[in-house]
Amino acid sequence: MASPRRIGILTAGGDSPGLNAAIRALGKSALGRHGMQLVGFRDGFRGLADDHRMRLDSPVLAGILTVGGTILGTSRDKPHRMPRDGAVVDATPAIVATYERRHLDAIVCLGGGGTQKNALRLAHAGLNVVTLPKTIDNDVAETDATIGFATALEIATDAIDRLHSTAHSHHRIIVTEIMGHRAGWLTLAAGLAGGADVILIPEMPYDIERIVAAIRRRSRLGTNFSIVAVAEGAMEVGDARIYQAALSRRSAAASPVEKAAAAAEVAALEAGHLDGTLHLARRLEEMTGLESRVTILGYVQRGGAPSAADRVLATRLGDAGAQYVADGIFGVMVAARGDGTVPVALELVAGRRKTVPLDHPWVRAARDVGTCLGD
Ligand code: F6P
Repeated sequence: MASPRRIGILTAGGDSPGLNAAIRALGKSALGRHGMQLVGFRDGFRGLADDHRMRLDSPVLAGILTVGGTILGTSRDKPHRMPRDGAVVDATPAIVATYERRHLDAIVCLGGGGTQKNALRLAHAGLNVVTLPKTIDNDVAETDATIGFATALEIATDAIDRLHSTAHSHHRIIVTEIMGHRAGWLTLAAGLAGGADVILIPEMPYDIERIVAAIRRRSRLGTNFSIVAVAEGAMEVGDARIYQAALSRRSAAASPVEKAAAAAEVAALEAGHLDGTLHLARRLEEMTGLESRVTILGYVQRGGAPSAADRVLATRLGDAGAQYVADGIFGVMVAARGDGTVPVALELVAGRRKTVPLDHPWVRAARDVGTCLGD
């Protein structure tokens, strides 16, 4: 079989540091080593549907290794449910048409869990697809690491370090919210690295009484400040039970009407949880008598130059992606395994989130050094 010569590339979902490093690596390897042509599509799957392209030749690929964000732009648009011309349509036929019109031999999609699912849909529509895993959440199945996590971890850890000194000066509780709605990798790792006193993650619903007891214990021992690292999606035990039940109803819904009702219920619960961190800080202040403050790290965690670790990861995954295309290995994600990479079938990745196992060594280490996990 002749090697594919012309590949498209897009970035989809939330951006993360290291995307440009991956575009550069894949591009340089595809152009330089494999003699292919590369074309960029703007703003995720929308660009593929609209045939909105960007030239990606050697001059464009130069100088982007250290640049944050993605030069291609991104969006959370899904191929099968895309708002276009005032309606939500299945844009898959338009995507297939672009793929054929541009004589593509493969499309490379850089993204998180949602992107892996959407890429599989395109593989089922007959496209040659390769994906690269990226997200600061580190929650893509079957890969040791995702592009962006290492940088976000540096940023969140630096923030906790800085919060320590001001919490100490004012004898306050500082509750810092770290990104991650469904997975607590970033909060757990930053909490460990920054020495947070309390770490709360979505995988381990918390009991506020336990947090209060831990903070009081610290006070009794003469330390009148505490750092609480809380993931966006961490919930109290009761709320988590209600939320999980709603999620189960949504996945078990038998009809479109039932599904819409369950989805609305999930959305309402998520909206109600948006100020969860403020609420937690208020209750900790009331229950401990210590002044409490909140710092929400937010999008700072996704911005700026990638760390050295992310540049290395992005470069090796991007290079491997070009090699898979050259070898005709399609329908796979380039997964990081140890120092190397392996192709993993998209069917094994799509729809499966990598969450923190309750017996993970990081969880054990946190407990062993006396961190309260709220359980
Ligand atoms: O998936 C990465 C992530 O940054 C999550 O940690 C966060 O919950 C979410 O994206 C925010 O999404 P958006 O960019 O759509 O606001």
